[in-house]
Amino acid sequence: MANSELQIAKDKLLKNGYLDIDVDPQLDLEKEIIKLKKRKNAVILAHYYQESEIQDIADYIGDSLGLSQQAASTKADMIVFAGVHFMAETAKILSPQKKVVLPDLKAGCSLADSCPAELFKKFKEKYPDHLVVSYINCSAELKTLTDICCTSTNAVHVIQSIDKNRGIIFAPDKNLGQYLIKKTGRELILWNGACMVHEIFSHEKIVKLQIDYPNAEFIAHPECEQHILARADFIGSTTGLLNYTKRSNSKEFIVATESGILHQMQIHSPEKVFIPAPPNNTCACNDCPHMKRNTLEKLYLALKYEEPEIILSDFVLEKGRRCIDKMLEISKAAGL
Ligand code: 13P
Ligand code: SF4
Repeated sequence: MANSELQIAKDKLLKNGYLDIDVDPQLDLEKEIIKLKKRKNAVILAHYYQESEIQDIADYIGDSLGLSQQAASTKADMIVFAGVHFMAETAKILSPQKKVVLPDLKAGCSLADSCPAELFKKFKEKYPDHLVVSYINCSAELKTLTDICCTSTNAVHVIQSIDKNRGIIFAPDKNLGQYLIKKTGRELILWNGACMVHEIFSHEKIVKLQIDYPNAEFIAHPECEQHILARADFIGSTTGLLNYTKRSNSKEFIVATESGILHQMQIHSPEKVFIPAPPNNTCACNDCPHMKRNTLEKLYLALKYEEPEIILSDFVLEKGRRCIDKMLEISKAAGL
């Protein structure tokens, strides 16, 4: 490819979000990705909500906690993060000396976007004695205003690690926050944010589906609304849900979370049936449009040209790290 073509693609990166370069349709992308990965000592970390073809080529597939632990411990020189922007930022904060690339910079997150740092700063000022616990699904800037981070796997442990007399602000997910209030008995001041994927489930359609599948277990992610969680036989993080389907004796599951996880559930339990919980719209699936912006082609280009790269200021790298390190410490102590 001509250098000028590459330069034009790089110049347009911020506008497009990804390197808009034609990929030869004859190319065996999987093979090329494996070759490039070896040559560059790169590692591909993928969230469970990625397309199955990306999951199949990843070195590690996991939920937000597992991905953070991998990002902190990898020996690779470059991390190709197949997930969304806040996850790639977290990887950069944990491994600042490594190059971190995200196949599409526009792979954002409605939950992270629901809590702009400048507004949160004003909110926080109203509770000067409170500790801030933020769900990892937030911007790196918000992490600089946070005392302890958490993911859906360790959120209960994080809240329980805080002195009972200390007030806590929990941001940005009000649904996970309400779940934590119920689970831990603590009072939390909640930011009013939510995930567009986990708020879309239809109570009515789930009830109908449970009538059609009377033996199916209904399992849900704690980002779902309370009336959906109230119906659930099991509530857990993405990894928690996957592990539950492996150990449960049930043969059928109705799954209320992003549909990407069904790929791993089916791989681990091929004899079981997994039904995505129906959303409140005409679409039959629960895809996260942000997660699904990443494609195998974009991943190949990101690995080849080492762009789009995640760049953070020294202030954010340093100040944003403390709350993540604290979270990892608590998780380690809890054996997570
Ligand atoms: P976990 O990866 O912690 O299950 O969170 C799910 C999610 O919404 C990630 O964006
Ligand atoms: Fe954000 Fe929800 Fe998508 Fe996760 S599933 S990246 S929380 S919008």
